[in-house]
Amino acid sequence: MTTIRIPGLIDAHVHLREPGYTHKEDFYTGTAAALAGGVTAVLDMPNTVPPTDTPERFAEKAALAAAKAVCDVGLFVGATTDQLDAYLPIAQHACGLKIYVSETFGSLRIEDLGLLHRFFRSWSEVAGGGWQVAGGDPVLPSPQSPVPNPRSPIAVHAEELMLPVCLNLSHLYNVPLHIVHVTRRSEIELIRRAKEQGYPVTCEVTPHHLFLSSDDLPRLGSRGDMRPKLASPDDVAALWENLAVVDIFATDHAPHTLTEKALPKPPPGVPGVETLLPLLLTAVHDGRLELDDILRRCVENPRRIYGVPDQPDTFVDVDVDARYELSDASQHTKAGWTPFAGQFVFGKVEKVTLRGQPVYDGDRILAEPGSGKVLFQAV
Ligand code: NCD
Ligand code: ZN
Repeated sequence: MTTIRIPGLIDAHVHLREPGYTHKEDFYTGTAAALAGGVTAVLDMPNTVPPTDTPERFAEKAALAAAKAVCDVGLFVGATTDQLDAYLPIAQHACGLKIYVSETFGSLRIEDLGLLHRFFRSWSEVAGGGWQVAGGDPVLPSPQSPVPNPRSPIAVHAEELMLPVCLNLSHLYNVPLHIVHVTRRSEIELIRRAKEQGYPVTCEVTPHHLFLSSDDLPRLGSRGDMRPKLASPDDVAALWENLAVVDIFATDHAPHTLTEKALPKPPPGVPGVETLLPLLLTAVHDGRLELDDILRRCVENPRRIYGVPDQPDTFVDVDVDARYELSDASQHTKAGWTPFAGQFVFGKVEKVTLRGQPVYDGDRILAEPGSGKVLFQAV
């Protein structure tokens, strides 16, 4: 047994489903699952019902999170076609603007260049006006920045040809762009090139796109269906070859019930927030990653890119030698399953401490609902 102490992880891409889909997840169950996985802050996506696209809807969601969350939660606003620019007055209280440019779950997809152009231009005006580029290196916000968020990026789900469209818009407006869940060789290589050219771009990769491929689909069935889809083994190899280009590991925790996953047209998405750390620690055990690779991508870079404030006296004690089998039954997510069920992993979270308080004891959630903070709210 070797217990190490690491900072609480930040999962910069989760869907906690509230309001509208609380049969899949809610702010309590989703943040409880986060704590069980050693994650003490999550950034929640706007594709709820209603979507998070006006100041009123943002305030309603923030109130729900404030009442129920057991870890800290930052909230994205979402670009929608029927509430154009309505979110702009609260841009600096969001962790970022999410634009769904490619196929996704829900109704937030935007494919029109005129609209995309407008979203990039208006965000660049309200959300800090982009990065100053000094010697080719983007100057990112400091984790100590006072709230609200001074430099929230645009986060895009942009696959295939939509990727260069978004890269160019962010370059033209010098607005920080974060590419979520990159999966293909062509995409990661293009992002590498854009970074070399000084574009204000960062990107993330999920554990399922690192550890699974289209070869796993026959075994997984609809449990392996998410957007972007699982990619080819060559695409997966490209993500590993270009790890230096990957700024963040985030899960895209997208819970749907097993009943929904058994429908003829199952919704895409898989839970993941509580398997992030053991999967990555298993890669450390196997010599494919170093611990520092995890901490940079799950703590330091999410803080810099999204301006997530420091969490004092917050840490995770994890036994990196403990080997166990992931199972549906042991998951805290309301969805109650994981695409990694049956897989043996290393790294058992034994204790989580948030702001000096024990919040998870390796078995039970100790934190009271509402003890998590909603980020970027104080003025
Ligand atoms: C996500 C969801 O279910 O909200 N699904 C998914 O397959 N990733 C939406 C998304 O992130 O595109
Ligand atoms: Zn997502």
